[in-house]
Parts: sequence; structure tokens; C-alpha cells
Amino acid sequence: MTEIAAVVEGLYRALGDRAAFDAYLDPRITIWESDADRLLDGLPSLDELRDRRAARASGPSPVSVAPEDIRADVWGDTAVARYLLRARFPAPSADRCFRVTDVLRRDDEHGWRIVHHHAEALSLLDRSVPPHAGGTLTYGGYLRLDELLACQTPLTDAHDELLFVVIHQVYELWFAQILHEAALLQRRLEDGDSTGALHTARRIAKILKTIVGQLDVLETMTPRQFASFRPELGSSSGFQSHQFRELEAVLGRRGFARDVLDERLRAATTRRSVFDSLLRYLAGTGLAVPPDALDRDPAQPWRPRADVRAVLATAYADERNPAAEVCEALVDIDEGVQEWRYRHVKMVERIIGSRTGTGGSSGADYLRSTLFRPAFPELWEVRGA
Ligand code: HEM
Repeated sequence: MTEIAAVVEGLYRALGDRAAFDAYLDPRITIWESDADRLLDGLPSLDELRDRRAARASGPSPVSVAPEDIRADVWGDTAVARYLLRARFPAPSADRCFRVTDVLRRDDEHGWRIVHHHAEALSLLDRSVPPHAGGTLTYGGYLRLDELLACQTPLTDAHDELLFVVIHQVYELWFAQILHEAALLQRRLEDGDSTGALHTARRIAKILKTIVGQLDVLETMTPRQFASFRPELGSSSGFQSHQFRELEAVLGRRGFARDVLDERLRAATTRRSVFDSLLRYLAGTGLAVPPDALDRDPAQPWRPRADVRAVLATAYADERNPAAEVCEALVDIDEGVQEWRYRHVKMVERIIGSRTGTGGSSGADYLRSTLFRPAFPELWEVRGA
């Protein structure tokens, strides 16, 4: 075992004995912890966090907390250790795991001590920790409820802030599900699977109906209730929802501002959109989709064209044709997203009126400019023609 790994092992063996544990820490240590809302600066702020944890502790205590797979690098008197910290609980509770990075410094008096500690609870979507590790699968373990229910951390004591947090988190979960379904929809379209594509498209449309309905709950929040915690939101805004942007990209939007283009969004803007997949599906049913529309560069925005419109009109000509039903299901998805935008802007008008948004836009004015812009305009045009 390396010198640094021995320090890390010793640290966790000392858990439960605060003085022995703290001997491994530089008193000026800085700490990032998943359940702290800010950088902890120095041992007194670590003590505050420990007291808060003790006050809200529930459920069984871990039977062991130990580092795994420690990797360390040393440069003179400075070192970095990275490891997985696993807390095991009595069966049938699932393990809880954290990704940890520690920075250590050495001096003649104390040897190696940790000067920065970064621990990150492995997230809900991280499947690297088996939910039944060390025991029988349980409801809470399978759903990672310990982690999920530790993620609601309002910044104020305002009663209504929890609703604001929960509803946004629920939306992000639904966005994840829609993206998951949209990938399947595209595969099914491109495989020529009409029944499967129809089923998946209808599921997406139903989810959209569900999330539009959820705005009713948020509308029970009055402007005064929202104002009670709004200043704490800083510049955070749904505007920064990566998954919403990805959904827009999957539905065909291109030309995002450079600063929002993260790796996933960039990938989504260079893949075929749902409409591109629809054209492949239609070609597979024997319709004469122009080859250059099929082989176009998907990174470019779609430009409506008369020859493709004519193909869509043919697909719609026979309403019992599965292709017509598939097109119709995509219109339902398109309408669902537009409904969400409309209900969101009306909710915003009710709650903040004409004030600017926390994301820095003109607020409702900006949001109104995003209304009535279908993702699949040609489908809307030809179905009524
Ligand atoms: C009190 C509730 C809410 C208010 C007052 C509000 C307000 C706003 C405002 C003013 C914007 C424009 C950007 C900005 O300047 O911030 C915006 C954008 C956005 N909000 Fe909300 N919002 C609320 C709830 C929600 C919820 C529950 C979601 C669900 C995820 C959400 C998702 C979004 C998205 C995705 C955008 C970007 C829309 C676009 O650019 O087309 N918002 N919101």
C-alpha cells in the first residue's frame, strides 16, 4: 500500500472518533460535500455539517465505511487521492457510494494531512453501484430512495420553495424519460416498425400531457409565495435545462448559442432528428422521399421543401395507412411541446407578471416569442390541406 493510501485507510478507520479523524485533516481544510450547499471552510464548518447530519439522521447506521480503489499521485509535498467510498448498511439496505478526491500536503510536524476533500454521492442515474449490493433487493434500494430523497435542499425556510424544487426535479425526470423514449422512437422509425413507433410516439405524447397538467400544481403558488424565495435563486433558471435543450435538438432545433452547447447537446445536434427518422421511415414504406433529403447533413437546420411536403401529403392521403397514423402521432408530440410552452408562459405571467426572468431574459415577453413554432411545420401544413 502506498503512503497516501495508508493515510486514506487510516482516516476512515478513525471514523467515530472525531479527534482521531480530525488529526488527518489540516484545520484550514476546504470541503465539498454533496449534502452541503456551499464550500466548507475550516474544521468548525465541518463540525456544523456533522451536527446538521446528526440532527436529521434517520434509518440504520452503516456497518462499515471504507475506501475502495484508491489511486494516488504524489508531487513532492503535495498529493492527490481519488477513491470510491462505500458505506455498507445492514441487509437489505443498499450500499451508498461516493466518489472522493482528496488533496494532501505534507509537513515535518504532522506528516500528510488532507487540505481539500471533495465527496460526491453517486447519482440516481449512475448504475455503477448495484442496488442490491450485499443484500436482497428492496423497494428503497432499487429506487435509490435514500439518494433521491436527499436531493431536495431548499435554500430558504420559505414553505413554498420545496414545491418549486420538487416540481422542477420531477420535470427533469420526465425529460429524461422523454429523451429515452425518443431514442427508441427514432430506432423504430428507421427500422420501419410502424406499430412500435406508434406506440412509443403515443407514450411520449401522454407524458407531455401529464407534464402540462403538472403546471396546475405550480399555479397554486401566489406571486408573494414565489417572491419569498426568489432572490435566493440567483441567475438559475429553467433556461439552463440541458435536457430541455436536448429535447429541442432531438425534435430538430439547430443553431444553439455556443455557450449552451455541452457535449450531449452537440451530439444531439449532429445526429438525425426525429423528422429525419420519419423521412427514412416513409422511404421504407415505399414513398418517393428525395434521396438528398434522406442523406442530408443532420447538423444543418431542416429547410422545408415542396417535394417533401408532397410525400407527406401522399402519406396522409389514406388515413388508415399506418404511415398517416405515425405522422399524426408526431403531430401530437409537437402539439404537446407547444402546449407546455403556452401553459408555462401563462404560469410565468401569473407568477412574475412582466418582470425579467432569473435567467436574464425579458421573461414572459421572451417566452411568448417561442410560442406557436412547431417542430414539424410541414406535418401541420399537409394534414389540413
Ligand atoms: C414559478 C415558476 C416558474 C417561473 C416564474 C419561471 C420563469 C421562467 C422565465 C422567466 C423563463 C425565461 C428565461 C429566464 O429569463 O429565466 C423561463 C424559461 C424556462 N423555464 Fe421556467 N419558470 C417556472 C417554472 C418552470 C418549470 C416548473 C419548468 C420545468 C422544467 C421550467 C422550465 C423552463 C424552461 C425549459 C425554460 C426555457 C424555455 C425556452 O427557452 O424556450 N420553468 N422560465
